[in-house]
Amino acid sequence: MEQFYKICFMGYSCGDTSACFNGNISFIMPMNLVSISENKNLEKRVAVTPEIAKKYINLGFNLSLPNEYGTHLGFKDNDYKNLGVNIIADEKEIISKADIIIQLNLPDEDKLSKFKENQTLVGTLNAFSNKLDLDNLRSKKINCFSLELLPRITRAQSMDILSSQANLAGYKAVIEAFQVYERAIPMMMTAAGTVPAAKVLVVGAGVAGLQAIATAKRMGAIVFATDVRMASKEQVESLGGKFLTVEGAENLETEGGYAKEASDEFKKKQEDLLSETLKKIDIVICTALIPGKKAPKIIKEEMFKNLQQGSVIYDLAAIQGGNTDFTEVDKIVEKNGVKILGEANILNKLPVSASNLYAKNMFNFISNLYDKKNKILNINLEDEIIEKTLVK
Ligand code: NAI
Repeated sequence: MEQFYKICFMGYSCGDTSACFNGNISFIMPMNLVSISENKNLEKRVAVTPEIAKKYINLGFNLSLPNEYGTHLGFKDNDYKNLGVNIIADEKEIISKADIIIQLNLPDEDKLSKFKENQTLVGTLNAFSNKLDLDNLRSKKINCFSLELLPRITRAQSMDILSSQANLAGYKAVIEAFQVYERAIPMMMTAAGTVPAAKVLVVGAGVAGLQAIATAKRMGAIVFATDVRMASKEQVESLGGKFLTVEGAENLETEGGYAKEASDEFKKKQEDLLSETLKKIDIVICTALIPGKKAPKIIKEEMFKNLQQGSVIYDLAAIQGGNTDFTEVDKIVEKNGVKILGEANILNKLPVSASNLYAKNMFNFISNLYDKKNKILNINLEDEIIEKTLVK
């Protein structure tokens, strides 16, 4: 695997990214780290918050951002400028000077066409679905690191964007579903009568699902959950949820801790179990995903007749195809009196919290990649974190 990085020992930027010993006194140029604006109609999060900008500068980076980079989140240009960030109007200029470009999503084609050899792009690039674009970047000798490929190991926890974002998504999905649900959530005993507690089913008890359970419990709901990984049973129970085990099922967990695709036999048993459970459920939070595949269809058309009128489903898997037969992205679909919600990016509904965590994850990833002494990126493929995230 080739490695591309910048070392310049001259007092000016010569554009040559190879080692250059052309004088008596030599010193190392700081690396130019930049982030460009996301398409704000689709993505409200930012990869660099003012808090984290300061950390990059302290680490020795020269940091540049475009005008109005975080204004929509209350991060003013002056907040960044006062910390020593270069605010530059022309994004083309920012890209052309960059050594490292840090983002949320893969930039659009127009912006990508401005990228140059030896630059490094880091983001949630969705390496599986954006394979063609990424192959193209690699053919231009641009290093691409995609953070959704991070291994789920202890050392990578502080960089784990999947966990930090899924945790917030799980919380927000419950809030959104509860807001649409036309009844109260906790049990209330009043002189006028008793309001029963809402019953919530969480499908998929990974990071988002566990936070959904915790949030629903905190608000007074009775919570049930199911997953194909047996390890999640204990976690669900420790949060006060009741785990629904598919009878006779084997544990469908990969070595990396992710779910495997279920067999037809398992799916049938799961369907029977959930069909019966849905009769008593008011709200369903769907979070089931299988990495690199379409989301499994779990709440099928025929199961809807078992749900009561007024029930609500929030489908966090919407963008990967959805866990129900009726999920539509960014729409509230009504089927037999049941509302089904799903959004392309629920994190746009809490972009400040999401950006704060994402920016920290990104900083921790860049710190691990950066050789502070020599001011270069050290693409050490013996480091599992670097090896797994580098798009090949
Ligand atoms: P995910 O977002 O890929 O999937 C969500 C959940 O859906 C998973 O729990 C999965 O088992 C479940 N699922 C898939 N198909 C299903 C089906 N047909 N029916 C019911 N449930 C189904 O997973 P996430 O949240 O990213 O977590 C994956 C694993 O990574 C978990 O084991 C988690 O504990 C682990 N993890 C480890 C970390 C570490 O640093 N060691 C950090 C974060 C997560």
